[in-house]
Amino acid sequence: MARKIFAKKNLELMMAETADSEKGLQRTLTAGNLIALGIGAIIGAGLFVRTAAAAGQAAGPAVTISFIIAAVGCAFAGLCYAEFAAMIPISGSAYAYSYVTMGELVAWIIGWALIMEYALGAATVSIAWSEYLNKLLGGQIPYEWCHSPFESYTDSLGVLHSGMVNAPALVILLLLTMLLIKGTKESAFVNAIIVFIKVAIVLLFIAIGWQFIDPANHIPYMIPDGTPPVKDNAGKIIADYSGVFKHGWGGVVGGAAIVFFAFIGFDAVSTAAQEAKNPKRDMPIGILGSLVVCTILYLLFGHVLTGVANWKDFVDPEKGREASVAYAISQYMIGYGWLATAVTVAILAGFSSVILVMLMGQSRVFYSMSNDGLIPKVFGELHPKYRTPYKANWLLFIFVGLFAAFVPGHIAGDLTSFGTLFAFVLVSAGVWIMRVKNPEIPRPFRAPLVPFVSTMGVLVCLGMIVALDAQTLKVAFGWMIFGIIIYFGYSQRNSKLHK
Ligand code: ALA
Repeated sequence: MARKIFAKKNLELMMAETADSEKGLQRTLTAGNLIALGIGAIIGAGLFVRTAAAAGQAAGPAVTISFIIAAVGCAFAGLCYAEFAAMIPISGSAYAYSYVTMGELVAWIIGWALIMEYALGAATVSIAWSEYLNKLLGGQIPYEWCHSPFESYTDSLGVLHSGMVNAPALVILLLLTMLLIKGTKESAFVNAIIVFIKVAIVLLFIAIGWQFIDPANHIPYMIPDGTPPVKDNAGKIIADYSGVFKHGWGGVVGGAAIVFFAFIGFDAVSTAAQEAKNPKRDMPIGILGSLVVCTILYLLFGHVLTGVANWKDFVDPEKGREASVAYAISQYMIGYGWLATAVTVAILAGFSSVILVMLMGQSRVFYSMSNDGLIPKVFGELHPKYRTPYKANWLLFIFVGLFAAFVPGHIAGDLTSFGTLFAFVLVSAGVWIMRVKNPEIPRPFRAPLVPFVSTMGVLVCLGMIVALDAQTLKVAFGWMIFGIIIYFGYSQRNSKLHK
């Protein structure tokens, strides 16, 4: 039994299989393309939605420090990803790395956690997409049709509105799924356009918003101990600051766990390792370069957003709790109404690329797991004409769609962070394990200062996991237990490695 669950894939065999199945891939991506790819997948709901959520619920204006903490955690894990991506440059990312280093059970667990990262990540961003669409349409979509059944609010007239289904989120998922099945690959060109628009809008917001900063909004910089809870019109508590991760420095760490979501996607750069012209040099540049660019943008953005609007606005459902950036602009940046519209349109386009990359990433992970026999063959079946894993895409649409339609955005978002952090912990640990066990394998890129960097990658990411909501941790734990049951009930028996 132990031999089975710890059975490892042979690295040379794996590379040979990959060379066989992914022959056509060409090394065309430059360092610049890789950075653009990273930014394309990184900037999305995390920045435009969760910055305000983190400020309103935990960190206050010190969300800027939360960004630094999250970025440092990502940098440690990012260096480890870079080492693996250069050493094992194949699809499947963290799942594939752990199959080689830590054996099948751990690989399965990581693959299962990656479902939380990619599938729930897509769901979260599609929910944010829905919020912004509604904002763009002037709030014309009835509350019932763009919120999950677990959400409700009482308006100023005392009328209770309950969500039913998040229909717009389903629509964008459907459109992008169809696009993916068609075999549409984001060309570097299209990606560059989206990145250009996203970054330009962020810079515009920073530059114009800077003039509207009210320094009083930045005092105090952290949420003070003893801040009373915030209630909605019906008297229900919607923000409670008594917990250790809800105010002061603890709140800053809690905020880091929330905005961590904004950095997810740099690992997508690692999946392009096989297409990089010079992975040895360009992988670290792509992964760390996109992280650096985004961190700088995020810091400035957080500073301006919490300076233009007060962080308390971001807990109030009638103010900036949803579509916070557009709210801050239209409320406080007088004369720049057009910017609110431009931001919203750019955000919608930007979210779409994030969703697309997440759905694509998930279908790649499914594809690898299916080829290994750990999940049914249907996930690996290719469309006769388009050569895409279309059945996996449809199943994924159903799964992601259920979450997007019926689960509140913050729950899906926190689970996404959990899945990603979990993968980061195992990738960081894996680098060290591989250094000790297989020092002879050539490493085109070596993460510096191992084991310090890998240990910090593990500790910082574990710290952020602990700072997540207790409810999130419970659901994530349940999900992982469910995964282990499936492993022993199905995957282990069907694993190709054992046959
Ligand atoms: N980092 C991506 C986003 O913020 C997932 O939307």
